[in-house]
Formats: sequence, structure tokens, C-alpha cells
Amino acid sequence: MIETLTRIPVVHYSNLKGRTGYSIKIDNQEIALFKVSNGGVYALENRSPHPKGGVLSEGMVSGDYVYCPVYDWKISLVDGRVQAPDEGQVKTFKVEIKEDIVFIIV
Ligand code: FES
Repeated sequence: MIETLTRIPVVHYSNLKGRTGYSIKIDNQEIALFKVSNGGVYALENRSPHPKGGVLSEGMVSGDYVYCPVYDWKISLVDGRVQAPDEGQVKTFKVEIKEDIVFIIV
């Protein structure tokens, strides 16, 4: 099967604040975009894996993790994995930054 990937420009890198989450809608998909304190940018599906999950873009960012705003689950921004003792995984998206433009690959 051939998968077609699309690079979608979403925001200027210089407009992103550190340790902050942003909500972006691409087609019908809500994506949470985060800039962490070392300058890295990560994109995840904007929904907590918790059964009654909230939106991750409103969570608190610490290092390479976001803490879910509702149940305080700790989720890796790098691979989307929920940290123990909780479990689950959030879908992640590849991010590219070129000349101040942040692209999400969907
Ligand atoms: S609703 Fe997210 S684990 Fe919280």
C-alpha cells in the first residue's frame, strides 16, 4: 500500500511560546502542537487516551512531557506513550521546521 504524506504549514516557529500547547485543526483532525523549553516542537492527536479524556493542548508542559489537564496522566511528547502507572498511547505526527515555518506531516 502506498501512503501519501502531506506537509502542512501550520504556524511560524517564532510565534510559538515555550512550554505551551496549541490546538490546530487539519481537515477533521484536531492536533495539539507543543513547543518545549529546549526549543523542540511536537505534534500529537489532541485527545487524551483516558476514556473520559480531555484535550492535551490545555495540559501543562514539563520537559518532554505533557500532563493531561483532567486526570493528570503524564504523556511523552516524543512518542505519545502514557507513563506508568497509567497506560495508553497517543498518535504522534512528524514535525518539520524550515525557515521559520512549522510543518506537520499528515
Ligand atoms: S483526560 Fe487525560 S488522562 Fe486525562
